[in-house]
Amino acid sequence: MTTEDEARAPKLYDDLASWWPLMSAPEEYAHEAEFYGRALIEACARPPRTLLELGSGGGNNASYLKARFDRTVLVDLSPGMLEVSRRLNPECEHVQGDMRAVRLGREFDCVFVHDAVCYMATEADLRQAIRTAWIHCAPGGAALFAPDHLRENFVPSTEQGGRDGADRAMRYLMWTWDPDPADSTYTVDFAYLLRQADGSVRVEHDRHLEGLFSRGDWLRLLQEAGFQPSAVPFDHPDLEPGSHQVFVARKPVG
Ligand SMILES: C[S@@+](CC[C@H](N)C(=O)[O-])C[C@H]1O[C@@H](n2cnc3c(N)ncnc32)[C@H](O)[C@@H]1O
Repeated sequence: MTTEDEARAPKLYDDLASWWPLMSAPEEYAHEAEFYGRALIEACARPPRTLLELGSGGGNNASYLKARFDRTVLVDLSPGMLEVSRRLNPECEHVQGDMRAVRLGREFDCVFVHDAVCYMATEADLRQAIRTAWIHCAPGGAALFAPDHLRENFVPSTEQGGRDGADRAMRYLMWTWDPDPADSTYTVDFAYLLRQADGSVRVEHDRHLEGLFSRGDWLRLLQEAGFQPSAVPFDHPDLEPGSHQVFVARKPVG
């Protein structure tokens, strides 16, 4: 694995994007989408009507959140993932863009950045993504950021999953580890077993480089952008109670 390999987009969001629904299905998101939707709405100074998601991926969270808003716009870097999301969320506007740089020239009552924020591997990248959220968030609105891990609660782990589709099937192993606890990243190595329609199985390794920041870093960067942030406990049946937090960031009215 070379530095060049690590700099490339993960295969999962590139030539393997069409396999996403067999890796991660919308039903798995019902509980957390309910939590994110409620937290965003409660954080707004008035009833929100519009939602922007940055790094919306296959649109699994959006498939639930969109019901709470009049208009939902989904931004992702990957054309393949946008294609998957368009099939699930045909009524939403989809835009290809980088959360560090995209400028839609519109404001939204709520801005949501789910696990895609993990791909902000440096503080400079994270600052840019937060700036994008700030620019697109209307005064009195709110943003919610949901990183998979904070520096304080990081533990190496393995997870496996996958499902059968109509004519293809996928199983995966996800191995999360931190080669250098002193830097701002951790590594997620995936092994994918991709069973094709003819019964043959393709095996792929995919390395994802993800960002790891402390709660203090998050709160400081959100405050520097102008938000009024708070760290909110995130409870989920699959997670150890108290082990995860998300950041809810209010944009002052004036
Ligand atoms: C795990 S998927 C997100 C899945 C999503 N939470 C859902 O509900 O379906 C991560 C996504 O982050 C996107 N991504 C990574 N870096 C990005 C960036 N700089 N700007 C926008 N999207 C990015 C990838 O293309 C990928 O679709």
